[in-house]
Amino acid sequence: MALLATSDELVEELQTSDVLVLSVPIYNFSVPATLKAYIDLVDRAGVTFRYGENGPVGLLKDRKTYVVVTSGGIPLGSDFDDVSGYVRQVLAFLGITDVEFVAADQLARDPEAAVMTARQQIGESLEQVAVAV
Ligand SMILES: Cc1cc2nc3c(=O)[nH]c(=O)nc-3n(C[C@H](O)[C@H](O)[C@H](O)COP(=O)(O)O)c2cc1C
Repeated sequence: MALLATSDELVEELQTSDVLVLSVPIYNFSVPATLKAYIDLVDRAGVTFRYGENGPVGLLKDRKTYVVVTSGGIPLGSDFDDVSGYVRQVLAFLGITDVEFVAADQLARDPEAAVMTARQQIGESLEQVAVAV
């Protein structure tokens, strides 16, 4: 059906990808509207999740997922961070639990330090991937 074409395309991309990378700037304490729209398009009953006897079951295969969260001022993991828990919950709902968060946060305070820390974390993750392979 034409109405579902975009959703089908995005779901297929998710079903066939081995690694998932989400880039998530914090906008007004939440995820950007574009990411919310993406989630609405890939979160499909009977396709990417279903309701079982004990509650919802994610139907996507688990795979390594990196979520890069950027912010102007909110520190990732602080009481003001409503984004990482939400993104983790959405991914788990779909069956994806192997999730690693990379923080490039508080960019308005010290952008160079934030980017350096994020690069360092990405480098460490890649080393682990190389060791695992
Ligand atoms: C509309 C808008 C809302 C934002 N709201 C927040 C916010 O609530 N908390 C925060 O720490 N940063 C906020 N920021 C800063 C962004 O998180 C920051 O600009 C972004 O992570 C860095 O990406 P950029 O280099 O593309 O701007 C906001 C930015 C925009 C444009």
